[in-house]
Amino acid sequence: AQRYEFHGAHQAGVFTPQQSAAAFAAFDVTAGDRAGLVRLFRTLTERARFLTAGGTPDDLGVGSPPSDSAVLGPDVPADGLTITVSVGSSLFDDRFGLASRKPAKLRPMPTFPDDTLEPRWCHGDLMLQLCAHNPDTVQHALRDIAKHTRGAMQARYRMNGFHSPPRPSGTPRNLMGFKDGIANPAEADNVVWVAPGAGEPDWATGGSYQVVRFIRMLVEFWDRVSITEQENMFGRKRDSGAPLDGANEGDAPDYAADPEGKAIPLTSHIRLANPRTPDTAASRILRRGYNYDLGLAANGNLDVGLIFACYQQDVDRQFAAVQTRLAGEPLTDYIQPYGGGYFFTLPGVRDAGDWFADSLL
Ligand code: HEM
Repeated sequence: AQRYEFHGAHQAGVFTPQQSAAAFAAFDVTAGDRAGLVRLFRTLTERARFLTAGGTPDDLGVGSPPSDSAVLGPDVPADGLTITVSVGSSLFDDRFGLASRKPAKLRPMPTFPDDTLEPRWCHGDLMLQLCAHNPDTVQHALRDIAKHTRGAMQARYRMNGFHSPPRPSGTPRNLMGFKDGIANPAEADNVVWVAPGAGEPDWATGGSYQVVRFIRMLVEFWDRVSITEQENMFGRKRDSGAPLDGANEGDAPDYAADPEGKAIPLTSHIRLANPRTPDTAASRILRRGYNYDLGLAANGNLDVGLIFACYQQDVDRQFAAVQTRLAGEPLTDYIQPYGGGYFFTLPGVRDAGDWFADSLL
C-alpha cells in the first residue's frame, strides 16, 4: 500500500499525483471557543497522521465499540491516502477572534456571470479534500474523522469524485470525453505556494488558496454536438488531446502564429483560460479536477459533472482572472456551475510535534 509523507512544509494532496478516488467534504465548526478550535485541529492532525500512514487501530477491549470501522479490515492500509485541510473565510468571523489573522484575499466565493449557486452546495468553515487509490479508503478516513470530531464540527456537504485511468494513454478524460489536466504547471513555487512577504500574514507561508467548483455537465445535450464544434469549444482534439494546431497532447499551442483564431478559435476554452501572453502569465493555476456521478437528476437526465479544484498563490490574480476571461465562453451552454467555495489550504504539518493551524492559532 503506497504511503505519501504526511509531514512537510506543504500539505500533501496538492502537488501529489492524482489518486483515483476523492471526496471534497465541507464542514462548519461548532466548537464554542478558541480552545475548542485548537482541540479540533489537534484531533484532525492526529487522525490524518495515523490514517495517511496506516497501521493497527487501538484495541479498546471486547466490551467497547471498536476504535475502527474495519471497513478496510483489521489493519488500516495507507493506500495512497492524502488529507488536505483548508479553511473558509467564515472561520475568521467574530467567533474565534481570528479576524486580524485572515489571509489577505480570502472571502466567500463570489457569484460569477454563468453561475447558479445553490446555497446547500456552497462555502463552509473547513474543506477536507481526501484522495486515495480506492473509494473505500476515502470513506473510511472521512468516517474516522467525523467520529473523532463529533461536537466540534458538523458536515455541510460532500461530493465524491473519481479520476479515470488514461483512455487509452496520456492524461485522463473528463465526462465530456476530452483529456482534462494536460496543461498544468510543472513547478509549484511560483504558482501554488504562498511565499513570505507576499502581503499575507506570516503564518500563511507555505499554504495556498484552494478553489472548489461543482460544475454540472449537460451530457445528453453535449452528446448531440458535432465533433468539430466540440473541438472548437475546447481548442483541442478530442481523441489525442492535441491542441488544434498540433499533433500530440504535449504540444504547446502557438497563438502568435494564429492571431485570428483560424486553427484555435479565439473563444475556445484553452485560449481564453490561458492566452499565453506575457501579461497573462501570472494567472496560471494548478488544476486538480475529479469527475463526479450522482446518478439521476429529477428529470431523468444523468446527474454528472466535474469537481473543478485548483490551487494558487493569489485567488484574484489567478483563478478569478481565468474565470473572468471564461465568462460567456461557448462551453457555458453545456455546463452549469452551482457550488463550491474559496478556501485557504493550511501550511504543512512540519513534524510529529506540529499540528494543523498551529501557526494560525
Ligand atoms: C483546460 C475542460 C472548467 C481552467 C481545459 C481542457 C479541458 C477543460 C478539456 C484542455 C486540456 C487541459 O489542458 O487540461 C473543462 C471543463 C470544465 C472546465 C469540462 C467545466 C466543466 C474550467 C474552469 C477553469 C478552467 C472553471 C478556471 C476558471 C482551465 C485552464 C486550462 C484548462 C487554465 C489550461 C489552459 C492552457 O494552459 O492551455 N479545461 N474545464 N477550466 N481549463 Fe478547463
